[in-house]
Amino acid sequence: MTSETTIPHAGKEPWARHKKLERNVALLGIGAFFAVIVGGVVEIAPLFWIDNTIEKVDGVRPYTPLEQAGRDIYIREGCYTCHSQMIRPFRDEVERYGHYSLAAESMYDHPFQWGSKRTGPDLARVGGKYSDEWHVQHLRDPRSVVPESVMPPYAFLAANDLDSGDMKAELTALYRVGVPYSKTDVEKANEDLKNQADPAADNADLVKRYPKAQARDFDGDPARLTEMDALIAYLQVLGTMVDVNGAKAQEVLNKEKGR
Ligand code: HEC
Repeated sequence: MTSETTIPHAGKEPWARHKKLERNVALLGIGAFFAVIVGGVVEIAPLFWIDNTIEKVDGVRPYTPLEQAGRDIYIREGCYTCHSQMIRPFRDEVERYGHYSLAAESMYDHPFQWGSKRTGPDLARVGGKYSDEWHVQHLRDPRSVVPESVMPPYAFLAANDLDSGDMKAELTALYRVGVPYSKTDVEKANEDLKNQADPAADNADLVKRYPKAQARDFDGDPARLTEMDALIAYLQVLGTMVDVNGAKAQEVLNKEKGR
């Protein structure tokens, strides 16, 4: 018994033409080029018509000059090589570090400090977790408060006077890349830098321009403005600008989740 199967329209199906495309390098190249163009237009073109890809969240404000100077020290010392600043929306991270990070919380960070290495814990919400005294002690000698710590000591920060250069210039540069500092913020930048860590200064105006800014001596030595003051002012503001449990923030979050 012989059974011969013949496909009635062999070679004439629409997909058979694809063979032609696959066997001709030039044709395949042209086809791939157009496929990428279409994909690119669909992905990229809408960005030209929307004003912002980051949803504004109440409470997010630019860093005060002192916090910004502390941030510069954080970068100078390479703290980011061991610490990330982005809590991912996974249960283990949220239970350990707090509410997951919102895009808006790092919208004024240039450059952002999300990081990808966690030798130490994430620091995105470390603000308010410890006292200033704890930070001073921990930065001077990490093993005196966490015996098993592998973090290096940074005692010299308390000995170094803060020399952050002209904060007016730094705030102007940040303004140019989109951080909404006001004219007054820029003009008073160097004054603000000193006053925030000076318990004797009147900081009402500073707090008005930078809501919830914490003005006090941070390093335990009110007579001097040190790198330790700046770094701790920065650490203490991390993750504290947005009230993630507030009604407004919840609304944004629910929108993000599509509810
Ligand atoms: C070699 C890696 C390394 C570097 C560099 C490093 N750290 Fe750490 N850090 C750690 C480790 C590990 C821990 C956890 C143990 C401890 O608390 O000391 C830690 C803990 C911390 C904590 C406590 C966090 C918490 O939630 O308990 C803070 C704050 C901190 N580091 C700040 C800094 C700052 C600021 C710098 C830069 C001046 C820095 N670290 C540099 C490894 C590092």
